Amino acid sequence: KRKHLVAPSVLSADFAHLYDDIAMVNQSEADWFHIDIMDGVFVPNISFGFPVLASIAHYAKKPLDVHLMITHPDRYIKQFKAAGADNITVHLEACTHLNRTVHAIKEMGCTAGVAINPSTPVAQLHEIVDDVDLVLIMSVNPGFGGQNFIEATYRKIRELRALAAGRNDGLLIEIDGGVNNHNALALLKAGADVLVAGNFIFAAKNPIHTIAELKRITPD
Ligand code: DX5
Ligand code: ZN
Repeated sequence: KRKHLVAPSVLSADFAHLYDDIAMVNQSEADWFHIDIMDGVFVPNISFGFPVLASIAHYAKKPLDVHLMITHPDRYIKQFKAAGADNITVHLEACTHLNRTVHAIKEMGCTAGVAINPSTPVAQLHEIVDDVDLVLIMSVNPGFGGQNFIEATYRKIRELRALAAGRNDGLLIEIDGGVNNHNALALLKAGADVLVAGNFIFAAKNPIHTIAELKRITPD
């Protein structure tokens, strides 16, 4: 089995000292920067937009995994690419023409992900699973860091792995929300490839050590 990836969620960083937190992630064993974009419409919160993303991109030495919690994401794909996104993940619930949006992301030169909310069944990915690089399973209701992990996530990971089998074996399954050292091993055993963690990393006394801990967990 391939080694899992860890993606610290910048949403939990200290925005007044953002450079320090970017440098910390650069120095750490983390694989990606996870960047949460919220519009106050798709989710009941507003995070940050293009200027902040471009500033992060300027100093980040690892790929930027951009999670769009916005309506009409198709309108902004080009700008997110220009601001430095490497992977762009859109919410299934926010896309009327999901296939078109996924292919627009790929044509822009990014990898493409689709995210599903806790209330969205894995079965709704049936027609798109061949076309995406990544599926993000929300393990909290999107909008805020520091929420409690939803246990039904384990079953959804197994269902998705079964759905993708023989169709998209390289599919990355990413888990976002409430991830910590208590659930990480079970998530990897269920079939997760990418662990996003915000609060668990940035509220830790030693974030570099916490990232190393998440990397060290092995399902075998
Ligand atoms: C929630 C965001 C997550 C969030 C995760 O809407 O998509 O990426 O920052 O934060 P934690 O790990 O604190 O739940
Ligand atoms: Zn996220």
